[in-house]
Amino acid sequence: MKVTIVGAGNVGSSCAEYILIKEIVEEIVLLDIKEGFAEGKALDLTQTMSTLGFSSKVLGVTNDYSKTANSSVVIITSGIPRKPGMTREELIGINAGIVKSVSENLLKYSPNAVIIVVSNPMDTMTYLVNKSFDIPKNQIIGMGGILDSSRFKTYISRLTNYNQHDIDAMVIGGHGDTTMIPLTSLAKYKNELLSDILSKEELLKIASDTMVGGATLTKLLGTSAWYAPGASVSYLVDAIVNDTKEILPCSVYLDGEYDSNDICIGVPAIIGNNGFEGVVNLDLNKKELEMFKNSVKAVKQTNSALNGLI
Ligand code: NAI
Ligand code: 2OP
Repeated sequence: MKVTIVGAGNVGSSCAEYILIKEIVEEIVLLDIKEGFAEGKALDLTQTMSTLGFSSKVLGVTNDYSKTANSSVVIITSGIPRKPGMTREELIGINAGIVKSVSENLLKYSPNAVIIVVSNPMDTMTYLVNKSFDIPKNQIIGMGGILDSSRFKTYISRLTNYNQHDIDAMVIGGHGDTTMIPLTSLAKYKNELLSDILSKEELLKIASDTMVGGATLTKLLGTSAWYAPGASVSYLVDAIVNDTKEILPCSVYLDGEYDSNDICIGVPAIIGNNGFEGVVNLDLNKKELEMFKNSVKAVKQTNSALNGLI
């Protein structure tokens, strides 16, 4: 199996590294527009083979889409990241054009590939790919919720000292500072609801830290994060390639699910070889349903900036 990653920058190369280390596929193609950049990243990664012990191959190319032919999964991380103080939504002007042209090139050579959209504003970029090409909806998945859920677990663990592996917690809604919804009512430590263990104030603090999790890192790093984003994408790739049918929060096209239409937004989705193979209905409380409705409204508002491109 072969995976292509477009954008050999921070997120793309970190994602390549995790896919290699976990040996999820035999071959990775890294493609970037910057002359020689992907080739350099691929060579550097290849030189970790004997010390890290994997045997998958990685090839770097500058804009040569013919080398991406017959990929099972293609990942779009090309575009600009946010700088401190910027929202993800502010990236739309530049990233929409990049995501559209990159997807077009990828689909020429791998028409059946599952497409993972990472570039921000991710829900809107996922919608753009859906609206621009006549391919099955289940083939297009936006990655954001897996990352946000891992941040949610991190903040729960930091406050409680619980092992992250014993925490079950999910973030749905848009992948934006004000649109994501950490589901505090359903979060669990082992089999116990966190709402039975922690105070309302503690849960609120965890939720608000999660929502600005990306912005906190952008402020610290001067650009947006890459280790957890890259690892989250690799986790999704693993679920697709190995047909795990795991339920993961992903941005997918909704056609009536969660009472929403004509939008890509984060919901629990069953992930397998065919991309997303179904949406799972969660028992949300009244407040969370209201938050989901508001999130849909806000993402649709961002999508309206795509006028002229779709
Ligand atoms: P980066 O600047 O390190 O890498 C982006 C790469 O894309 C650069 O190497 C650039 O040369 C390349 N590129 C630009 N236009 C291209 C084109 N037309 N064709 C091929 N390559 C092209 O940025 P970073 O940190 O890797 O972030 C990438 C994107 O991912 C940003 O939009 C960022 O906001 C988003 N992101 C999304 C996350 C999510 O959870 N959905 C998490 C983290 C970042
Ligand atoms: C993140 O959440 C900016 O989407 C990027 O780190």
